[in-house]
Amino acid sequence: MYVRAVYPGSFDPLTNGHLDLIERSLRIFDELIVAVVTNPAKSALFTDDERIEMIRESTQHLREIEIVVFDGLLVDLVTRVGAKAIVRGIRAVSDFEYEFQMALMNRKLREEIETVFLMPHEAYSYISSRLIKEVAGYGGSVKGLVPAGVEQRLRDKLKKG
Ligand code: PNS
Repeated sequence: MYVRAVYPGSFDPLTNGHLDLIERSLRIFDELIVAVVTNPAKSALFTDDERIEMIRESTQHLREIEIVVFDGLLVDLVTRVGAKAIVRGIRAVSDFEYEFQMALMNRKLREEIETVFLMPHEAYSYISSRLIKEVAGYGGSVKGLVPAGVEQRLRDKLKKG
């Protein structure tokens, strides 16, 4: 059975935790679509195009993945692209409640779509895009926590801002 999965998120920006999850997903699924949410209510540091470029640059060494931008309901996208599963990462117990609610809401909306939770490597369990932006914003080092290209873009972006 050929299984296509969607890994959705804000990816503002992509972290090494996200990348680790992409690599793990590629070991399980035949095809992976990384779906970048464009959310006008949640002001992003990086534009949709920048977020896509960072994912593309950072996944050059991997089997090909598709990257799409979406708005609206995630389950509609998953159905449209013919995927069976949604991949989400759980870093710690604190992630669980929100993820559990989303998974069950998505199941209520579209029963045939399964959410699959993967654990990123424990070395990345404390990393979030929000903290990366905060630390980089105050001039702290995020080396080793995000791909090198993302580190550079953060420097450029925050210098300009
Ligand atoms: O990286 P994030 O910000 O934690 O990702 C959250 C995301 C994009 C997966 C979630 O906000 C989402 O699915 N948004 C699309 C709108 C939607 O379907 N909402 C209902 C989810 S139960």
